[in-house]
Amino acid sequence: QEELFKKLIAHSKEYGFIFPSSEIYDGLSAVYDYGQLGVELKNNIKRYWWDAMTKLHDNIVGIDAAIFMHPKTWEASGHVGAFNDPLIDNKDSKKRYRADVLIEDWIAKQDEKIEKEVAKAAKRFGEAFDREQFVTTNARVLEIKAKRDAAHEKMTEVLNANDLAGVKALIEELGIVCPISGTKNWTDVRQFNLMFSTQMGSTADGASIVYLRPETAQGIFVNFLNVQKTGRMKIPFGIAQIGKAFRNEIVARQFIFRMREFEQMEMQFFVKPGTEMQWFEHWRQFRMSWHRALGFGDDRYRFHDHEKLAHYANAATDVEYEFPFGFKEVEGIHSRTDFDLSQHAKFSGKKIQYFDTESGESYTPYVVETSIGVDRMFLQVFSAAYTEEKLENGEERVVMRFPAALAPVKAAVLPLVKKDGLPEVARKIVNDLKFDHYVQYDEKDSIGKRYRRQDAIGTPLCITVDHQSLEDGTVTIRHRDSMQQERVKIAELPGIVHDMVSL
Ligand code: GAP
Repeated sequence: QEELFKKLIAHSKEYGFIFPSSEIYDGLSAVYDYGQLGVELKNNIKRYWWDAMTKLHDNIVGIDAAIFMHPKTWEASGHVGAFNDPLIDNKDSKKRYRADVLIEDWIAKQDEKIEKEVAKAAKRFGEAFDREQFVTTNARVLEIKAKRDAAHEKMTEVLNANDLAGVKALIEELGIVCPISGTKNWTDVRQFNLMFSTQMGSTADGASIVYLRPETAQGIFVNFLNVQKTGRMKIPFGIAQIGKAFRNEIVARQFIFRMREFEQMEMQFFVKPGTEMQWFEHWRQFRMSWHRALGFGDDRYRFHDHEKLAHYANAATDVEYEFPFGFKEVEGIHSRTDFDLSQHAKFSGKKIQYFDTESGESYTPYVVETSIGVDRMFLQVFSAAYTEEKLENGEERVVMRFPAALAPVKAAVLPLVKKDGLPEVARKIVNDLKFDHYVQYDEKDSIGKRYRRQDAIGTPLCITVDHQSLEDGTVTIRHRDSMQQERVKIAELPGIVHDMVSL
């Protein structure tokens, strides 16, 4: 699986999907650029989300708030006080780690140990091996499990209590060593705020510190009244937004899974207090259906309901996808009560309430939010689409099985040869399609090579113009996944591509 993930990253670079940021200067950690095909795929993902949330819901509207916000926003939201990671340094390697990640890695290692015991026993017992029985009765496995579970429980306890000395004590108790130096020579654990800050105005004027927003949600909360009044919105209603967010993540791992500059697609749904659980359930189901509609296989998604909740939430769940490195969060759905609007009312001194004309009462609405990372969704789609195939003739191909609606290039138009008037017919087809779809023209190399190139970037349809096209106005279309070919009339092409890309 690790091998697969490496191949995927290499593929994304080779075909112009993702590049390391400022690569000629050796890159910038956890920051990435989207290339010529990456930006198309990313835009298609955003459109798929935006249409599903705004266009298809007459009670959800969009906004585009600024990245900079009044500094008080982040006091009200709690980010100044509590948006922290516990950090620890190894005195010998001088490397800095997130303490909770060190402990999580130690816990994951215990699972590996158990798997090793299982593998050893399976070899010893052969056919008669009963895994279930072994892992529930073997003394050595039970001992590892007990240590693992105790560590997990202790970690949750000290992290929730923000007990930094307790975090350090646990690291020492487990005997965790630095992966670089191999020593246990640790500093104390300290808090590190994840928000990036900069200054607004020149220092001579008394510049003030402003933050780069760590989530887009706050831009929606502070605009609640503006949108509700000017849009004459009636509760329940939602506000959606897509935009950049920034977090100074200490441990940036797994490619674009955890970045320092990333994009979020968030929707805050404002409801009457007391109805929030019903809406939470509604959005939980709706968002899962949205993911599954892409057709990558229902069993590759699951919910992870949170037992421990943030102080402002009364329900929370993650939609997880099975990445090459295991099931991981793609999206969060949270019932945030009236925490955000009440906090902003308190810090701004403004009345932020909704007047219900039917009942004649005013109240602070409750919020159910759906929050998904664009980049993480990109990685999800990219890893789900990546397929290596052995063909009947013994050749191999890499094919990106993107759903047609998300594919960066919808169709490639390929003249069989570069002469006899075939390029002209092909160009005309491109011109007829290009106002509605991103299509590519390619005349270089053999037709087989061109098909492979289009497979590698996930183009669902190849349209080949040959000599017969000149006689009867037909072309061959080749389908990416089945590699089946059929002849169709040129005049039918706009309809065929249109039907293919509608999800
Ligand atoms: N407003 C709620 C909020 O921001 P979150 O769980 O912190 O909640 C929501 O983030 C989503 O944003 C995550 O599910 C993930 O997809 C994405 N996300 C968060 N941090 C990220 C990072 N450092 N890099 C990429 N995506 C990230």
